Amino acid sequence: MDYSPGLRGVVAGETAISTVGMEGTSLRYRGYDAIELTKNSTYEAVASLVINDSLDEADYKKSFSKYYLQISKDKNLNQLLEEVKEKLSPMDVIRTVVSYMGELTTLMKKKLDNQDKVELTARINATVCYIIASYHKDDCDELDDSYLVASSMLPNNANKEKIEALDDMLILYAEHGFNASTFAARVTASTRSDLTSAIVSGIGTLKGELHGGANEEAVKLVNSFNSIEEAENEILKMLEEKKKIMGFGHGVYKIQDPRSDVVKKWVESLIETDFSKNRFEIAKKIDEIMTKEKKLFPNVDFYGGLLLSELGFEVDLFTPIFVAGRSVGWSAHCFEQREQDTLIRPAAKYIGIEERE
Ligand SMILES: CC(C)(COP(=O)(O)OP(=O)(O)OC[C@H]1O[C@@H](n2cnc3c(N)ncnc32)[C@H](O)[C@@H]1OP(=O)(O)O)[C@@H](O)C(=O)NCCC(=O)NCCS
Repeated sequence: MDYSPGLRGVVAGETAISTVGMEGTSLRYRGYDAIELTKNSTYEAVASLVINDSLDEADYKKSFSKYYLQISKDKNLNQLLEEVKEKLSPMDVIRTVVSYMGELTTLMKKKLDNQDKVELTARINATVCYIIASYHKDDCDELDDSYLVASSMLPNNANKEKIEALDDMLILYAEHGFNASTFAARVTASTRSDLTSAIVSGIGTLKGELHGGANEEAVKLVNSFNSIEEAENEILKMLEEKKKIMGFGHGVYKIQDPRSDVVKKWVESLIETDFSKNRFEIAKKIDEIMTKEKKLFPNVDFYGGLLLSELGFEVDLFTPIFVAGRSVGWSAHCFEQREQDTLIRPAAKYIGIEERE
């Protein structure tokens, strides 16, 4: 059998949800260009598109508001949330609290109707957003009707520009084909397990720094430099030592990540302080060095980390925000996998000791 390390280039299943890197650099959700969607749609419309192939945002909004309010009043869930927040990092809190929703989302029948899919997805999405909001908002009930999901996570006084920037970031996080976390979720769904278990598989997989965790590591790296000169020297040293620079390169895109420019533009337009200005210049220098030395381009996480920082989020909430965005992609893939009803079970190339007595 053919073997491809890391399953690179291997077609591991069929999907009608998105295409990644088809014309080299494009990302399409059910045929629509994701970059165009950031200009013309809200995250809620994109969520409906990804789940049900409809850009009508009304049902998703209704379900999200309903569950967000319900969760904010759920005493048991809030008690658990406060307990685990004392011991765990935000990503681990999300993994634990979503897991606690077990009995709420066990439903994973082969035939779910569109409304079931919206309800299940919005419930998970609202829980993740509520957890993120609980870290820095006193009043979690106040939502902007035009951008429910983005406004649920941002501080209540966030201006329209910041809400729109986060809405775009969420659209770009929403879906990305058979990436590691989605694949992990699909593997779990393929065993006919429940949706909560599949989403928890996705959360655990997204956490690593080679995947969603890259946004946190990228911003920590940029923040560690005080000047452009220092950044240049250190990055060159890291490359010489064959270290990876988080936020660069991609398993599928080989020319550029189409999401990066949208995110970079938002960072530029949100810069207010000298600190941010200096940091952006340092980031651009790292970007320049990576192109020159390694022919590597920034992926969504490099400027993505800077954007979430400009929006006022603490670093350990960056990957949780990625979870909030990607939860709709994970759900859609789980529904699709369940409908296909094929157990995912690849083979391995054995490299151990031959037969022994
Ligand atoms: C995402 C990633 C795993 C894609 O992997 P890939 O295209 O299969 O590439 P590989 O990891 O096999 O690396 C191929 C070569 O490029 C180098 N490379 C890839 N990404 C690199 C990076 N971010 N920094 C430095 N070198 C990098 C590798 O060291 C390797 O070099 P070598 O051939 O001399 O050994 C990889 O680019 C990476 O680890 N990036 C950093 C983590 C990150 O940003 N993740 C978020 C992805 S959206």
